[in-house]
Amino acid sequence: MDRGPSRVRAVRHRLSQQGPPWTRDREGDFETVAVPEQHCDRLRDLLISEGAEKVVEVGLAYAGSALAIGEALATVSRPHPRHIIIDPFQEREYANAGWDLLCSAGLDSIATLLLTPSSTALPQLLAEGFVADSAFVDGSHRFHEVFVDLYFLRKIVRPGGLIVVDDDWWPSVHTAVQYYERNLGWTVIPDAFPGEGIGVGPHGTPAVRCKAYRLPAPSFEPSFEDFRTF
Ligand SMILES: C[S@@+](CC[C@H](N)C(=O)[O-])C[C@H]1O[C@@H](n2cnc3c(N)ncnc32)[C@H](O)[C@@H]1O
Repeated sequence: MDRGPSRVRAVRHRLSQQGPPWTRDREGDFETVAVPEQHCDRLRDLLISEGAEKVVEVGLAYAGSALAIGEALATVSRPHPRHIIIDPFQEREYANAGWDLLCSAGLDSIATLLLTPSSTALPQLLAEGFVADSAFVDGSHRFHEVFVDLYFLRKIVRPGGLIVVDDDWWPSVHTAVQYYERNLGWTVIPDAFPGEGIGVGPHGTPAVRCKAYRLPAPSFEPSFEDFRTF
């Protein structure tokens, strides 16, 4: 199946111009739910500059970000590209709208959709020994679920790999991510999403939508005595 970047770009272009062929019966649902195109472009470019081959994504919905990740994998064109996507509500809530778009872009040959909550899918991936270069997190926005996503992703993404988080402007998401930044050596990649500031965040810092983090290499486990509040 053709999964070249131009075919993916065409599907992405149509999605941004016309929206998905089907949406939930909610005013502006696609615009509210999907990651905006320019952020998706930056995500794609980051993954291309990483030379990513294996990516885990939490939260499919209308596949805005998934198509951008697929475009990156098709552009990098490493020997064994894999895109693991986790979303328990894709069938039930989204009538497979996102998955159908991935199929129309020819990306189903490299993508796997897991229809279970990330809190059960991620430990399973870890137990199977799956190792990713990068991850994109835009699933449940509840504090405890984001925290658990990041807990497992730091074990699945290789040391020195990349984790990108969407919706850091929500206090629930921001607070979860802050633990990893303050305690586990995750470093923000400056200007990964330039011109992003949208106001003041929970602790007086500039609030941004997407944040990209570099994991430490080698990975380490801190002593509980070194705990830093966040
Ligand atoms: C904001 S949307 C993702 C939008 C997507 N990134 C895009 O650009 O179109 C959040 C998604 O997370 C999914 N979700 C909610 N709870 C989840 C969970 N526990 N595990 C994985 N995905 C979850 C929802 O079904 C929804 O599709």
